Amino acid sequence: MTEEKNAKAATAYSSQDRVLIFDTTLRDGEQSPGATMTHEEKLEISGLLDEMGVDIIEAGFPIASEGDFNAVSAIAKNSRNSVICGLARANFKDIDRCWEAVKHASQPRIHTFIGTSPLHRAIPNLNKDEMAERIHETVSHARNLCDNVQWSPMDATRTEEDYLCRVVEIAIKAGATTINIPDTVGYTAPRESADLIRMLIAKVPGADEVVFATHCHNDLGMATANALAAVEGGARQIECTINGLGERAGNTALEEVVMALKVRHDIMPWSTGVDTTKIMNISRRVAAVSGFAVQFNKAIVGKNAFAHESGIHQDGMLKNAETFEIMRPSDVGLSDTNLVMGKHSGRAALRAKLKDLGFELGDNQLKDVFVRFKALADRKKEVYDDDLVALMRDQSADEQSDRLQVKKLRVVCGTEGPQTADLTLAIDGVDHQVEATGDGPVDATFNAVKALFKHEARLQLYQVHAVTEGTDAQATVSVRMEEDGKIATGQSADTDTVVASAKAYVNALNRLLVRRDQQDPGFDVKGVSYKDAG
Ligand code: KIV
Ligand code: ZN
Repeated sequence: MTEEKNAKAATAYSSQDRVLIFDTTLRDGEQSPGATMTHEEKLEISGLLDEMGVDIIEAGFPIASEGDFNAVSAIAKNSRNSVICGLARANFKDIDRCWEAVKHASQPRIHTFIGTSPLHRAIPNLNKDEMAERIHETVSHARNLCDNVQWSPMDATRTEEDYLCRVVEIAIKAGATTINIPDTVGYTAPRESADLIRMLIAKVPGADEVVFATHCHNDLGMATANALAAVEGGARQIECTINGLGERAGNTALEEVVMALKVRHDIMPWSTGVDTTKIMNISRRVAAVSGFAVQFNKAIVGKNAFAHESGIHQDGMLKNAETFEIMRPSDVGLSDTNLVMGKHSGRAALRAKLKDLGFELGDNQLKDVFVRFKALADRKKEVYDDDLVALMRDQSADEQSDRLQVKKLRVVCGTEGPQTADLTLAIDGVDHQVEATGDGPVDATFNAVKALFKHEARLQLYQVHAVTEGTDAQATVSVRMEEDGKIATGQSADTDTVVASAKAYVNALNRLLVRRDQQDPGFDVKGVSYKDAG
């Protein structure tokens, strides 16, 4: 570790009025079944996180797979301002592998953890003393490699208080610089969350030398409240994910804690380094690449979060926006108007609009997007911001190298089944055609794909969202497929729902094929288990 790296690592400690934001979208978020991202997508998201001022990016779990290791290394190499962190279980092999990946960062961090509650201690079958010894050895080992070490007692909120104090003290003595207190199963409540951190800071010798972090899951819908309460109790690092992505009910949502601290600074006088105007763009991007759409009424980033439909609301808003608005759309990077574009809009207007929405395009890219925009405007009278975002996110449009491409689709539906799909699919550049039937137009279409391109992949999720209102609205379709433990999601948008479905399905298949060919990764759902701590 160089002098310079040491100095930078030291700046990651917060002062009393600053809360560090630790984003784990690429680790805890991506680990949730189905949210797998490609290498390029992970790099893109980490770049956006860095740019928006996230203090620490947990880039992945390097031991989990070759793909995870490569992604964490690449993110570390490309890092600019953020600390880059990797996760490791409490064993030397995990920690060494983690260090190999994060060491390329200008500010690396190793995050090592072990489950300390009675239920979790039973898994590696360690008694309290043996576990304490393991914590001492592994944290010391991590600290010998890296000056910036985070340690987490997994399931801390269900760990006996005296044992928790004991192991936190051991981790601090062994050199941990951040102590993270996870509510792994989303069990705690706000008052408890604050009291637990307060108790640890008061009782554990050396507690004032480290940063306490809070890591909450949302099983009871309290993750944001619990994280903010932990800050009241003395935590100065919040672990969170974009859109609250994460296993089961997800993690604390970054956008919620950051905006809560900003809007209610009067009663929560702590600041973050996050540029909140970047929130909407990254939220849309994470939704697109993970395939986890944001619910319409989700706080801060939901489609309806700033919509005022009722007459009373609209009337009040016109007189004074503050009547019903506690933050402005522009605070989170939404343009104030959902300005309508149409078929007469020119290239310059499109470029300006896309820039406003967070997409900076080169000339060639703009040319291609403009053609697709015109095609959409021909089919749809008014093109809204959300239509443009869907157009930009249409994964089926940008991959020329895809092995499979939907060429033509004609579907016959009606009250008399079965429905029929006549599909032409290009496979490695050669067109193949088939007619298939099914229980509904989408089923018939998917059967046609299967008839032309035999595969064992199982459909795990099929989701349709109308991008805007009206019968001419575009539909975005997300499809998640699983083959041999590997998961891939595909997305597409079109004014024709069945066409969007066909393209999304084929897009997911293309991604699985890439993984199969490259023996690549994504997070292997059968992969590592927390149990394997030794
Ligand atoms: O929820 C949890 O306990 C975790 C740990 C690995 C920190 O994600
Ligand atoms: Zn977690």
